[in-house]
Amino acid sequence: MFRWDLSKFNYPDPHQTAGVRIRFASEGEIGAAAEVWYEGLREEEDSPWENYLKKWTPSSAARWFLDSEKRLGAKMLLAEREEKIVGINGIISERNSGKGRFFTGIVVSPNCRRQGIGSLLLHRTLLDLKKGGLRSAEVETIQGIPAAKYLYSKYGGESIQVPA
Ligand SMILES: CC(C)(COP(=O)(O)OP(=O)(O)OC[C@H]1O[C@@H](n2cnc3c(N)ncnc32)[C@H](O)[C@@H]1OP(=O)(O)O)[C@@H](O)C(=O)NCCC(=O)NCCS
Repeated sequence: MFRWDLSKFNYPDPHQTAGVRIRFASEGEIGAAAEVWYEGLREEEDSPWENYLKKWTPSSAARWFLDSEKRLGAKMLLAEREEKIVGINGIISERNSGKGRFFTGIVVSPNCRRQGIGSLLLHRTLLDLKKGGLRSAEVETIQGIPAAKYLYSKYGGESIQVPA
């Protein structure tokens, strides 16, 4: 798991990636966001998500996302380029605990990686959570995968070991 202390989050905007816009999804875009999530996890090098994905399809993921929006007030942040969704992060703000949870994790389309899109999504997520008055942010992930090795340690993210 990674955790960010939002009281320490004070990082300048990352360099923009050409033509990429970060914004929240409308309800009609949740299906496309679920496809990006599913394909993005499936195509990660060495298939670390293979087992996890056995219980999901893009359409069951879309139902999970929509249900989280309705029941928990979750929001789906998108990275969009040329009218295509190229990255996502699903966020739940837990007011009682003061925590923001990335319930989907950050996922970028395989052919759009290493261009700064994951960093844009992470920075914007943390900034919005901090502006919303939350104290910390968390994401569950797998040790040793690119997200854990390279992305989540940015902007003050600290790795915390939890039993599987
Ligand atoms: C993890 C992931 C979201 C990163 O997205 P991205 O758009 O490639 O990230 P960025 O381009 O912003 O890269 C962030 C930093 O990590 C580095 N990086 C990213 N992937 C890397 C890799 N495979 N090898 C080496 N460095 C890498 C970048 O060079 C960059 O470094 P910098 O901050 O020094 O400039 C993407 O690889 C992905 O979607 N993976 C599969 C889904 C997944 O497992 N998500 C986690 C769910 S919990």
